[in-house]
Amino acid sequence: MTSPPVLEVRGLKKHFPVPRSRGGGTVHAVDGVDVTIRAGEVLGLVGESGSGKSTVGKCVVRLLEPTGGTIALHGRDISHLSQRELRPMRRQVHMVFQDPYSSLDPRQSIGDIVAEPLRMHGGLGSRELGKKVESLLDKVGLATGMRYRYPHELSGGQRQRVGLARSLSLDPSLLIADEPVSALDVSVQASVLNLLMDLQEDLGFSCLFIAHDLATVELVCNRVAVLYLGRIVEEGTREEIFTSPKHPYTQSLLSAIAVPDPPLQRRRERIILTGDIPSPIDPPSGCTFHTRCPVADLPRCADEVPILRPIEASARQVSCHLVGADGTAPDAAKAAARI
Ligand SMILES: Nc1ncnc2c1ncn2[C@@H]1O[C@H](COP(=O)(O)OP(=O)(O)OP(=O)(O)O)[C@@H](O)[C@H]1O
Ligand SMILES: [Mg+2]
Repeated sequence: MTSPPVLEVRGLKKHFPVPRSRGGGTVHAVDGVDVTIRAGEVLGLVGESGSGKSTVGKCVVRLLEPTGGTIALHGRDISHLSQRELRPMRRQVHMVFQDPYSSLDPRQSIGDIVAEPLRMHGGLGSRELGKKVESLLDKVGLATGMRYRYPHELSGGQRQRVGLARSLSLDPSLLIADEPVSALDVSVQASVLNLLMDLQEDLGFSCLFIAHDLATVELVCNRVAVLYLGRIVEEGTREEIFTSPKHPYTQSLLSAIAVPDPPLQRRRERIILTGDIPSPIDPPSGCTFHTRCPVADLPRCADEVPILRPIEASARQVSCHLVGADGTAPDAAKAAARI
């Protein structure tokens, strides 16, 4: 019998009511997301700012209560467990946050920060605890003497390493990494990403890796899901997404990545999307991407909501009216060049 996936999210919704004093309405931050992550897999969740990536991550670790849908960890539905019932599961899933400056408690020493989950769950004596903290710091490439320092004495990259050490202290089976390098200086981004990849290979945890651009996920992910206004518009293996993106939105995200081949880079058309991502309070009708899509077929795309469906008889999925079941897809770059 095959074991259930590490994470299985079905029809996840998270809506935030807007107070009447601020105009009222509902923010449809996440609006029906399905995500499956198997043992040892790293799934990249990519989308523009405001597309709902962090909200998905926070629902999975139940920092936020989902409005609808189910979240199963190792086959167990955790979507409606109380905080008390969730405790044993907290060992299994950890989250590394976007901003290493605000995610570490400034009053705690690095040693205490890393030891906190172990104190809550581990039942270790103080000597064993000290040893474990030192070995975790060593694993993330920090000197063991770092345990006596405080967050304000560390660089952004060092802080993010501390965040990783803390997240991995209980050997979780799933790590939610929410843009773990986007707040860091470009020069240290690569070293933290490499560290994350080495640790994943070493420890074998599964990972939901959140990023706002495709370039970052190419390095670290086996599969990629593209999020737009709280819905997944395309999902496939890294190769599928990077060699033949089908959804016009995925094509536009990919066109924004520089390729290390100057002649090829000159031939490529960059798709510039017009305007910002629309408001999730009043999302566009039909396909929510139709207002920015260079190949939208009106009125169909404005009227009918596309469903995420498999194409090419594979595990790959796309939600676009213009993509055929055999994988034929419009070329958004050519259309954008004509505009
Ligand atoms: N607590 C909240 N109350 C109301 N609206 C919220 C709340 N948290 C998030 N939102 C809204 O939900 C939408 C999705 O937010 P989210 O933080 O998930 O986006 P994101 O994709 O992680 O963006 P970024 O790349 O900027 O981190 C946004 O429109 C945001 O304003
Ligand atoms: Mg975010």
